[in-house]
Amino acid sequence: MPTYIRQQVEFVRGEGALLWDSDGNEYLDMLAGIAVDNAGHCHPAVVEAVTEQVARLIHVSNLFYTEPGIKLAEFLSESSLGGPVFLTNSGAEANEAAIKLARRCKPGGNFVVLDGAFHGRTLGALSATPQPAKQQPFEPLIPGFSSVAPEPQLLVDAIDERTAAVLIEPIQGEGGVHVMPEELLLAARNACDRHAALLIFDEVQCGAGRTGSLWAYQQTGVTPDVITLAKGAGGGLPVGALVARPGLSDGLRAGDHGSTFAGGPVISAGALAALGVVSDPTLLATVSRNGERLRDGLAAIRGVTEVRGRGLMVGADIEGSAPDAVAVALAEERIVINATGPNTLRFVPPLVINDAQIDDAIERLARVIA
Ligand SMILES: Cc1ncc(COP(=O)(O)O)c(C=O)c1O
Repeated sequence: MPTYIRQQVEFVRGEGALLWDSDGNEYLDMLAGIAVDNAGHCHPAVVEAVTEQVARLIHVSNLFYTEPGIKLAEFLSESSLGGPVFLTNSGAEANEAAIKLARRCKPGGNFVVLDGAFHGRTLGALSATPQPAKQQPFEPLIPGFSSVAPEPQLLVDAIDERTAAVLIEPIQGEGGVHVMPEELLLAARNACDRHAALLIFDEVQCGAGRTGSLWAYQQTGVTPDVITLAKGAGGGLPVGALVARPGLSDGLRAGDHGSTFAGGPVISAGALAALGVVSDPTLLATVSRNGERLRDGLAAIRGVTEVRGRGLMVGADIEGSAPDAVAVALAEERIVINATGPNTLRFVPPLVINDAQIDDAIERLARVIA
């Protein structure tokens, strides 16, 4: 099915923040497979963990335990909210699990999401993604979802005793890289507490070290009840998860939910290795520093009208059409990048990118945009 609009490039090899195409051209990667290759392309620790595990045991199903699956769940829980984990194969599936958990906790309950949000393309996650172009062809969607502008009072007014959960990306990614203000997150926390609703943070894009802390909520003054994650947590392998606070340990019961492949030993071994890389405090400090360097450099380019973001999750609005700039950058300056809207360029490079590569990316882009 022609669902993807692809660039005319075939990549054959990657290392760190670099990619090579089938003609041998080298590219600087500012996309990381859409915020996935956080540990860098083909990180030796990920390659070794996967290679070792794939030769030992590939699949047995969730009817049994495997050591990598247990260790992955333990790491995710201990590094974040400390409660139960449900492993999935993707971000949309993690959000589906969160939606089911919230309905289980408050039967028949409703969901509040924010304008501009993106939570995935399966029908539940799509119902939580208030974008007419994505939703309308697939209506009727799941009832019980409403969206409000990201204003504290509007959000508080939308939450009541029928609300099962409020679903928020702490930094909206697909919507154009918008950092949700702390007062909005706090207002959501308080209103959820008042009405016994779950506060769910979708960290699928902004998690796994992307913003300079392992999980994005750790840089806010707000602790959610549930986080969902995927993308960068797997080092390029299809991993997702829901992590809840300890009080929700019997939220989903035996037989309520499942997935044949999820948490399999090979992807779990790879994810553990990738998470080991991106949770390193030295790397996380570098992510914050390099994020600032990137934002400062972009803001100084003529033609860039606004720069937003945190850590290495950055959006830059440009005059003219962002998709055109992307095409030129790819073709002439050998930069891998994408746009999240008509005039926003998104920068989500591998977190192992170094400062010289950041400067190089800024120079190349300045030649395209200025
Ligand atoms: C915030 C957020 N949630 C969910 C998803 C869906 O993830 P997946 O494509 O792995 O299903 C995405 C994907 O871009 C995302 O950015």
